[in-house]
Amino acid sequence: MTITMTTNTSNGTIDQHGNRMTGTADAVALYDQTLDRLLRYDVAVLGLAERLMTEAADAPMTSVLLAYLSLSSTDAADVAVARDFVAALQTMPTNERESMHTTALAAWCDGDWVGASKRLDDLLQVYPTDLLALMVGHQLDFFLGDNLNLRDRVGRTLPSIEASHPHRGLVLGMQAFGLEEAGSYHQAEQAGLAALAANADDVWAVHAVAHVMEMQGRVEDGIRFMTDRTSDWGSGNLFSVHNWWHLGIYCLEAGRHDAALGIYDREIHHSGSSSVPLEMLDASAMLWRFRLDGAETGGRFDALADSWATKVADEPWYAFNDVHAAMALVGAGRLAEARTLVARLDSYLDTAGGTNASMTAEVGLPASRAILAHGEGRWADVVAELAPIRRRLHHFGGSHAQRDALQRTLLDASIRVGDLPRAQSLINERLALRPTSVFGWVQQERVHTANGNGAAAAAARATGMLHLDRFATAAKKAAL
Ligand SMILES: [Fe+2]
Repeated sequence: MTITMTTNTSNGTIDQHGNRMTGTADAVALYDQTLDRLLRYDVAVLGLAERLMTEAADAPMTSVLLAYLSLSSTDAADVAVARDFVAALQTMPTNERESMHTTALAAWCDGDWVGASKRLDDLLQVYPTDLLALMVGHQLDFFLGDNLNLRDRVGRTLPSIEASHPHRGLVLGMQAFGLEEAGSYHQAEQAGLAALAANADDVWAVHAVAHVMEMQGRVEDGIRFMTDRTSDWGSGNLFSVHNWWHLGIYCLEAGRHDAALGIYDREIHHSGSSSVPLEMLDASAMLWRFRLDGAETGGRFDALADSWATKVADEPWYAFNDVHAAMALVGAGRLAEARTLVARLDSYLDTAGGTNASMTAEVGLPASRAILAHGEGRWADVVAELAPIRRRLHHFGGSHAQRDALQRTLLDASIRVGDLPRAQSLINERLALRPTSVFGWVQQERVHTANGNGAAAAAARATGMLHLDRFATAAKKAAL
């Protein structure tokens, strides 16, 4: 099956991607419009979703789309909303594809994230042009840290989408991110740029290219790339906070703490920020990098910890969020609350099952304990928690760039505890991949200093400063 229809030619009960859908022609048209905006991360999707609720509540795909929207927040509080939609779906007449969506949603609501991901793969084998299934499956691959399926799910679908279809470019953007997380940086950049040639405001493709440049230590390129097109991604979409985070961490690498904090205050977390975990974790990840750099963040950790405090009282739902909540609590010096969070995760494992329990046991709990140990100055414990899991951190989701916060924490603690051979090996690994890494050279200077090798420390510092100066010049040129 190939997609041949355009977004505006819904015909009866066939949607814009050529799949049969239960509902009136009007319901299909509104669903098509909503999915089009969702695929673009356009904030307009929120208003359209409300219209779907009021104008097309009887169409099963309305409940399907809204349930996915709820679950994609990864907020425990939204799961109940999704469950209501699933309950409604289970009473509706549905066709095969809609029924497969219902099954995937039921699995996710039951805590079987892996099962939901698998069911969406099954669905896509039969209905490869179902771009809602593709997008949600892509998100699930991200939440599960399944970097190969992040790449391959899109690759399996792409041939079914005609080159002329207006959504093909958006699928290329997904492919770009999958390729990047799988380490195919050149292909990823090419796919991302092709996606942007099709849709300059494809914020997911912007994100994919930003990741390529981050992973390759191309901070000048990254700053230029992001600032040249801020009008395409900086506002009006559901992904702007995370893309600002990427620009912010380029600024950190350029030594421009002022610019990074400016971005943080304007775009990442402020008094008007929504309490969406996926956005709050960007705030935690940025402030934690400041902390590891020994840089001042004022009262920002405290404000962020206040936001997380309402979330950590919920039943654990997504371990990746819990670790970032721990970062905020520890950064704010609220160690008692961080200890409570760790204890809560521990006791949750006594009875919990499902995907999050596995992610928590394998990565979330040890990583949270490591963050707490860092706050308590128990450097050996940080190393003991993180060293054994550093190669499987991806099992609790996120991107390489996001998980780097934990790799940096391990390196920092290794130096502080005097485990210099371990620290050196971690630095070697980092600089082998990114020879321009200012953070890497700063850590190298620390290790040489700890070893009493002043000349080598000065040389490492000089190398780091060389890169930092270049990056800072790029930031200045970009008026950051
Ligand atoms: Fe990212």
